[in-house]
Amino acid sequence: MTDAEFSQLEAELFDDYGLPLNGLHGARHWRRVDRFGQLLALHTGADVEVVRRFALFHDSQRYNDEKDPGHGQRAAHRARQFCADELTTEQMQLLHLACLGHERGITTDDPTVGTCWDADRLDIDRQGKLPWLSLMSTPLGCKIAEMSPQDRLFWANLEPWGGKTRGLFRDS
Ligand SMILES: [Fe+2]
Repeated sequence: MTDAEFSQLEAELFDDYGLPLNGLHGARHWRRVDRFGQLLALHTGADVEVVRRFALFHDSQRYNDEKDPGHGQRAAHRARQFCADELTTEQMQLLHLACLGHERGITTDDPTVGTCWDADRLDIDRQGKLPWLSLMSTPLGCKIAEMSPQDRLFWANLEPWGGKTRGLFRDS
């Protein structure tokens, strides 16, 4: 999936996303999960076609920014509607499983599903929390989760969620 294809699919998901796009589970989070997922996939052997689509879909069918039980199932359904024609049956099964299970607080030995879940769980600093080490599925995900928030963001080349402290500038 190219970045252009990612952006196009993302824009289509904006249509029925009822929460703020820069909110806790909005498009800003989707892009950060995509970033973590792509980096993890370089080492975990995950199928990046599945991982990038997971980043887009997994929280796209939320009704609220709280626990929202069932949003994983709705995401899995939406992902099948959008992606069944462009993925293999096996890829679609993995994407469905990843979306369905991501809210359940479990881990997996499957490298692709595990990379999806780790990528999501690594973008937890935005909620003022640290990643839960026992919920990491891949060895690399666990290693990145052990880093300080600053080192983790540096590794992923991401800005802090709250933004950088800006310097003061003079007009002249
Ligand atoms: Fe998420």
